[in-house]
Amino acid sequence: MNSSVRQSAWLFILLMFISWPSFSQTAKITGKLGKHAMVVCARKEAADIGLAVIHKGGNAIDAAVAVEFALAVCYPEAGNIGGGGFMVIRFNNRAADAIDYRETAPSEGSKDMYLDNSGNVIPEKSLFGSLACGVPGTVDGLLAAHNKYGKLALKDVMEPAIQLAQRGFAITSRQAENLNNYRKRFLQINGSDMPYIREGKWQAGDTLRLPELANTLMRIEKLGRKGFYSGLTAQCIIQSMKKGKGLISMKDLQNYHSRWRAPLRFDFHSCQIISMPPPSSGGLALNQLLGMVEPYPLATWGWNSAKSAHLMIEAERRAFADRSEYLGDPDYVNIPVPALTDSSYLRKRMLDFQETKATPSLEIKAGKVTLFGESEETTHYSIVDDQGNALSGTTTLNGTFGSCVYVKGAGFFLNNEMDDFSVKPGVANMYGLVGGEANSISPGKRMLSSMTPTIVEKDNALFMVVGTPGGSTIITSVFQAVLDVVEYHMNMQQAVNAGRFHHQWLPDMVYAEPTAFTPAVKSDLEKMGYHIMIRPAIGRVDAILVHPGGMLEGAADPRGDDAAAGY
Ligand code: GLY
Repeated sequence: MNSSVRQSAWLFILLMFISWPSFSQTAKITGKLGKHAMVVCARKEAADIGLAVIHKGGNAIDAAVAVEFALAVCYPEAGNIGGGGFMVIRFNNRAADAIDYRETAPSEGSKDMYLDNSGNVIPEKSLFGSLACGVPGTVDGLLAAHNKYGKLALKDVMEPAIQLAQRGFAITSRQAENLNNYRKRFLQINGSDMPYIREGKWQAGDTLRLPELANTLMRIEKLGRKGFYSGLTAQCIIQSMKKGKGLISMKDLQNYHSRWRAPLRFDFHSCQIISMPPPSSGGLALNQLLGMVEPYPLATWGWNSAKSAHLMIEAERRAFADRSEYLGDPDYVNIPVPALTDSSYLRKRMLDFQETKATPSLEIKAGKVTLFGESEETTHYSIVDDQGNALSGTTTLNGTFGSCVYVKGAGFFLNNEMDDFSVKPGVANMYGLVGGEANSISPGKRMLSSMTPTIVEKDNALFMVVGTPGGSTIITSVFQAVLDVVEYHMNMQQAVNAGRFHHQWLPDMVYAEPTAFTPAVKSDLEKMGYHIMIRPAIGRVDAILVHPGGMLEGAADPRGDDAAAGY
């Protein structure tokens, strides 16, 4: 491991410990059951709002827009209007669509913007403060989704979030801890004039009211896009940029547009998976992972046995090596998606897999494919409406509270998504991910993501809606949730509760939750050559499973304050 990779690996581990409180698994082994509709997300307030919108006659898209605006209020760590995200939608007639509202690099952004005169990465420049911010996409994405598919008026889906911001909500103990941990950083960047700073420490149960954010949401409700990308809200963003020497300009805001993308569809055993295409690496990596393990008898080998874990880790190592080499914004680089997901390529990729020995990551390079021409804090919600339409949405500010830049006068945090670019080839980002030229910074370009909002069909019917936050661990957490249900026949809550592990090629380390491996399996894996680091919670999977007969099981992850609401 070179020193920059090693340094980033430690930063990655440190961030995981800061951002992810440890959790104790609950005894709950079945999720919330409902015959008609289900909403699962990071906060009860937002889940209840989503379900109320469905009761009012809204569909899954109306509910998603309501949930995402509500999360921007009651889950400011990751819920946002200053960030971006992706939605994958499957309608009850099997048609599917996906929207990309990922942030973009400002027009003044450049490949070397985080490097000093000697070409070295300046620590933290892509992580905190105004220069770390990409042009936010969430508001455009939500409005575009609502405009294309929503049934209710915008007022009906936005009003609950506005009222929540005005009325306030009781913070949880996790949130109190987060706010207290970030106090110093907030003060450094914004001074004390923000609602997240109070005299003394935050305590669980304290009420947080966000009147500035309520006013911004009202402007969006009244003016649509113009309520965010021009006028007062935009001016407030520009002020924040001026204060912190950030690059987002008024033109960047006005030029931002979300994009509809064809979802990635692929088969896994008797299931068809629908997931997010680039600029998220999530769907493609999930396709590679499932394709690489499909020929092997995982069910016979057993859940998280040494044999199964070994196979899955080797697949993860190879998928992340490909991610690093080939993936970026498809509007800027030519990504060989068919070649990277071709089943014979994936089989070949595992030819050097040895059943009893770990392959060092240094021996694994990206696979060779024919190029056509050339090319951890986040939050997820899963929704099924009463007509059988399903939506899987993941949205992010990147780090907890993003760049920690609070937009004064408009009441929200801006993202630090620029760190998801490869700021220098070979140098790892906050999640320890190493990228290359395909993910270098360019004006207007979208940074590569790991978000993996996914919907699974079985025998052509809706089967599962799944996704999670967790940076690079998003991909491997969704991978395990799908395997837990499809290969190991767990119900949704069991799959969500099950211990997880993660490998991402570099650093060459297996991160595992305490419950992922028995001591015997851990020791067997170590004998094969794996380095295993036990760490707190990996991911917060919020998912829905459709049981035979149609009963919906909504599973909220006990690793967070997540909640399911259904009927
Ligand atoms: N910011 C995390 C991701 O998009 O993967």
